[in-house]
Amino acid sequence: MTNTSKRIVLSSDHAAIDLRQAIAKHIADQGYEVEDIGPTTTESTHYPLHGAAAAERVASGDCDLGIIVCGTGQGIMMAANKVKGIRCGVCLDTFSARMTREHNNANMLSLGARVVGEGLALDIVDAFLGAEFEGGRHATRVDMIEP
Ligand code: RB5
Repeated sequence: MTNTSKRIVLSSDHAAIDLRQAIAKHIADQGYEVEDIGPTTTESTHYPLHGAAAAERVASGDCDLGIIVCGTGQGIMMAANKVKGIRCGVCLDTFSARMTREHNNANMLSLGARVVGEGLALDIVDAFLGAEFEGGRHATRVDMIEP
């Protein structure tokens, strides 16, 4: 599977609608299949609902990877990581985004729309989606996270 043939689910809370939509356009333009599960209005909502909904799409195998966004990236990440099979990291720099795929086999990325600007966020997304899990000794360790 080439990277751009992957199916990516996106969700956010109300604090991150604009950034989520910018990410959706950015990766769709690159050829990724995007499933944006909202929300679509800026009405106040609850990040655990949206983190869990995206995580279920990845855990079920319907989507290959997920990108979720809230104000800080923290709360929605915590919710996603409660779903069995999900490994989601908050990444605020491109090095962490690449490494969380290569070493931790992260299947979801969380971003903070109130922490990083759109330009950096899109670079972080590119670093995450462009990287692959290295396996080997890292697989042994990742297996220990959730036996
Ligand atoms: C919403 O105000 C804010 O708490 C939320 O987007 C997020 O930052 C939580 O972790």
